[in-house]
Amino acid sequence: MTPSFQSLEKIPRHVALIMDGNGRWAQERGLSRIEGHKEGAQSVRAVLRAAAKAGVEFITVYAFSTENWKRPPQEVEGLMKLLVSSLEAYEQELHDNQIRLRVMGQFDRLPLLVRKRLQKTLDATAHYTGHTFIIALSYGSRVEIAEAAKQIAVKVQAGELAAKDIDEQTVADHLYLPDVPDPELLIRTSGELRLSNFLLWQLSYAEFHITDTYWPDFREEQFFQALEAFNGRNRRYGGMEK
Ligand code: IPE
Ligand code: IPE
Ligand code: MG
Repeated sequence: MTPSFQSLEKIPRHVALIMDGNGRWAQERGLSRIEGHKEGAQSVRAVLRAAAKAGVEFITVYAFSTENWKRPPQEVEGLMKLLVSSLEAYEQELHDNQIRLRVMGQFDRLPLLVRKRLQKTLDATAHYTGHTFIIALSYGSRVEIAEAAKQIAVKVQAGELAAKDIDEQTVADHLYLPDVPDPELLIRTSGELRLSNFLLWQLSYAEFHITDTYWPDFREEQFFQALEAFNGRNRRYGGMEK
C-alpha cells in the first residue's frame, strides 16, 4: 500500500535524519560494509521522493561526521567515492523535482574530487527554491558552534559588534546555514539513542523518532510512519498542555 501523505494533518517543514545501521545491515547479509552504504544511498533517494510528495521543504541527512574520519581509510574512501557516484546518478532527479542541494560541514576537509563534484551540483541547483536537500558532510555540531564563536569574537574584536549585544540570534546567525529553519523532526535509524554530535543547537525543540530499522531498509513507508508519529506529538515548547 502506498502511504497517503495527504491524510496527515501536520507536515514538518524540516526533517533531519541520522542515517545509521548500514554496516550492520550488510553484516547480517554477509556483505561488505560498502554494500550496506550503497543500499543506504537508495534509501536517500526514496526519502527525497517521499519528502517531495509529502511537501516537506527541507531534508537534512547526516552522511559523514567529523568523527567518521577515524574509520579505516578504505571505508572513508569508499564513502567518498559513493558520494561522487550518487551525485552523478541522482543529479537529474534533483532537477526533475526542482530540489536545491546544499552542504554543511568542513567542506575544505573533503577530497578535491568530492569538492569539485559537489560544487557542480550545488551551482546547477542553486536557483531552486521549493525543496532543499542538505547533506551534512564532515559535519560536527561542536565544531560548528566553536566556529561560530570564533567568528563572533572576530567581529567583537574589530568593533563591529558589542559583546553585550550577543544573544541567541547572534549565535544562530553564525552557524553554517543561518537561513534554514530548525528541524522539527529528527529521525534516527538502527535504534541508537544518541545524537552523535548532530545539530545540537538546531534540534533544541525537535521531536525525536527512533526506529530499529537499519538505514538501507528505511524507505517511503518508514518515512510515512515517522511523519505519523510526529502528528501524534503534543509540542509544548516549555508551555502548558493544550
Ligand atoms: C551509517 O552507517 C553511515 C555512516 C556513518 C557513514 P554505519 O556505517 O554507522 O553502520 P553501523 O552503525 O556500523 O551499522
Ligand atoms: C552517526 O553515525 C554519523 C552518521 C550517520 C554520519 P555513527 O555510526 O558514526 O555514530 P555512532 O558512532 O554510533 O555514535
Ligand atoms: Mg553507525
